[in-house]
Amino acid sequence: MNPLSQAEILDSGLAVALHWNNGNTARFHAIWLRDNALDAQTRSPQNGQRLISILDVSAQTMIESALISDAGNLEIVFSPDHHQCEFAPDWLVQRVYDETTARPLAWTNNRIERWDEALNGGVPTADFTQCRDDAAALRQWLHSVERYGFAKMTGIPTESGKLCEVAELFGYVRETNYGRFFEVRNEVNPVNLAYTGLGLQAHSDNPYRDPVPTLQLLNCIENSADGGESIVVDSFKAVEILAGESQEYLHVLSHYCARFEYAGSSDVCLQSKRPMIELNADDELIAVRFNNRSIASIVDVPFEQMQTYYAAYRRFAEIITDPSLEVTFKLQPGELFIVDNTRVLHSRTAFSGAGTRWLQGCYADKDGLLSTLRTLENKAEAAA
Ligand code: OGA
Ligand code: ZN
Repeated sequence: MNPLSQAEILDSGLAVALHWNNGNTARFHAIWLRDNALDAQTRSPQNGQRLISILDVSAQTMIESALISDAGNLEIVFSPDHHQCEFAPDWLVQRVYDETTARPLAWTNNRIERWDEALNGGVPTADFTQCRDDAAALRQWLHSVERYGFAKMTGIPTESGKLCEVAELFGYVRETNYGRFFEVRNEVNPVNLAYTGLGLQAHSDNPYRDPVPTLQLLNCIENSADGGESIVVDSFKAVEILAGESQEYLHVLSHYCARFEYAGSSDVCLQSKRPMIELNADDELIAVRFNNRSIASIVDVPFEQMQTYYAAYRRFAEIITDPSLEVTFKLQPGELFIVDNTRVLHSRTAFSGAGTRWLQGCYADKDGLLSTLRTLENKAEAAA
């Protein structure tokens, strides 16, 4: 822990500047501190949810006094309501918003790490039984999914539907029109080109849904055909390369919406309108949608920009299909991979020949996975 050394009231009580022993300083507003108070009148001690609304906080909220208690906490008395509360130094450190460094367009948070072909030597992998029986093994596997946006799992019994049990290790299967899970094998009248022996270009799944499924699992039951290798690509790395080459290309692909559509079976017509490269309001890169099979006519780009848009789309596709970004493996029976479908694209090479290739796929959601990961991390930290 890094102790607080001083609390200095600013602007007649509109804000406070906090000084830590290590020389760090950060300002917090009175209204922010009052809104974030942790006492039992402000937050439920049972579930931590906020009991008050912003309308319960006076617009005239100021800091009446601010001092460091004997226990080392920040002790604040607010006016006009004389409400009193305490904040631990570490709690404050984790919530500093007084930052001045500007972030580049398409920045990513520090829990993720972009990668390229070099990851071929260290594909994150874990064993199903271990993850099921050992919280530390599961925590590490989920951590890899967060950090790299994909991971492999081995040791899954080669039975139909087992992949749902993998999703249930951390969350819930997301059912769609393809079913709770779906068969990925060569079919006579396929409703999707995935259900053929054709190769598939690197893609994110189902960009025509809104919200898009944020996780995809593909589990191998048989793979004795020739070909049928799996390739994954970190699209966030591809965005970094694109941005380095042309800010204009990044701008058009993130500023204008693409359209996606799937109407491959008679009772389904799914449509979405979203940018290929999606940035948050604060320019954080949050998702890539890329799928040559389901991109629809692009009609939301002004005439003057369409030529540039297509040049950018082409360049992005070239980067995505560049072998220097690819991690390749051939799934064996009992092996699965999971991708963060907002980030890591997957593809497969064509397959044919005497053998059989049978995969099963399903979707799940990343918020549930991250929730499980955080609780496992919190428990591990508390036990340490
Ligand atoms: C899919 C898909 C890849 C494969 O079903 O979404 O991309 O390896 N399949 O068959
Ligand atoms: Zn796919």
